[in-house]
Amino acid sequence: DMAASDAVILAKRNLSPGIEELVVRAPVVARSAQAGQFVRVFPRLGGELIPLTLADWDAEAGTVCLVVQAMGVSSIEMNAMEPGDVLAGIAGPLGRPSELHRYPDDETVVFTAGGLGLPPVYPIMREHLRLGNHVTLIAGFRTKDLMFWTADGERVAALQAEFGDRIEVVYATNDGSYGVEGFVTKPLQEMLEAGRKIAEVVTIGPPLMMRGVSDLTKPFGVRTVASLNSIMVDATGMCGACMVPVVIDDKLVRKHACIDGPEIDSHLIDWDKFLPRFGLFKAQEQEARTRHGL
Ligand code: FES
Repeated sequence: DMAASDAVILAKRNLSPGIEELVVRAPVVARSAQAGQFVRVFPRLGGELIPLTLADWDAEAGTVCLVVQAMGVSSIEMNAMEPGDVLAGIAGPLGRPSELHRYPDDETVVFTAGGLGLPPVYPIMREHLRLGNHVTLIAGFRTKDLMFWTADGERVAALQAEFGDRIEVVYATNDGSYGVEGFVTKPLQEMLEAGRKIAEVVTIGPPLMMRGVSDLTKPFGVRTVASLNSIMVDATGMCGACMVPVVIDDKLVRKHACIDGPEIDSHLIDWDKFLPRFGLFKAQEQEARTRHGL
């Protein structure tokens, strides 16, 4: 019942320009949330909904953490709300949870997260660590000033403190102002070429980055999943915005990220058909691929 929503915003924190972290009261969601899932949020009655990946949750406190980038009308509205304000509705958890396996100790699960990819990657990474797996986070940001969740006491550092050498963190910035200069594909390529045993790769970020990662791992036969939350619009299977062209047994199959995902085997995606949806021009794509060394 949206009219009786008690989804109070309890805390709000600016992470980088246009990006807010919100802690929202949502006990039902928090109780059953699993890594990889998302929620549908209505900032106000009659407004548009926003599908948002659960960045974190606390079942005991009955809260969820959402990271919102002000991009469309609803997300701008949502980011303008303050602690004490009430969201008109929050529904979930939705989507298939991440597939989790316990891998051998000499293998690592690699997460490549570009910018806003870090919040959705975080709970999946934590779940792998809790299972006993080794994980490698390759987190990319445009520049040092836009980094978040990485300083002492913040989420990534907290995982390092809790899980010690089972988590390895590599940062990359486009301008080299912190960590490796370049894209997340660079450290990943080095790992692959060095023969590191990689159990699987989870990639979340801009579509071009996910393709770059997918193209890199394919010849090595490393299972790679792309989480496609960012392309959803209504997240109900109705609008068609999240359609992903996938090739199975030489046949083109259309999957919905919001129903069949959000995680999709990236090596099955027909990226040539998929990417133009994001309004990318061939030249731009080629240029980016060149920069990725692909
Ligand atoms: Fe609209 Fe999946 S987001 S059909």
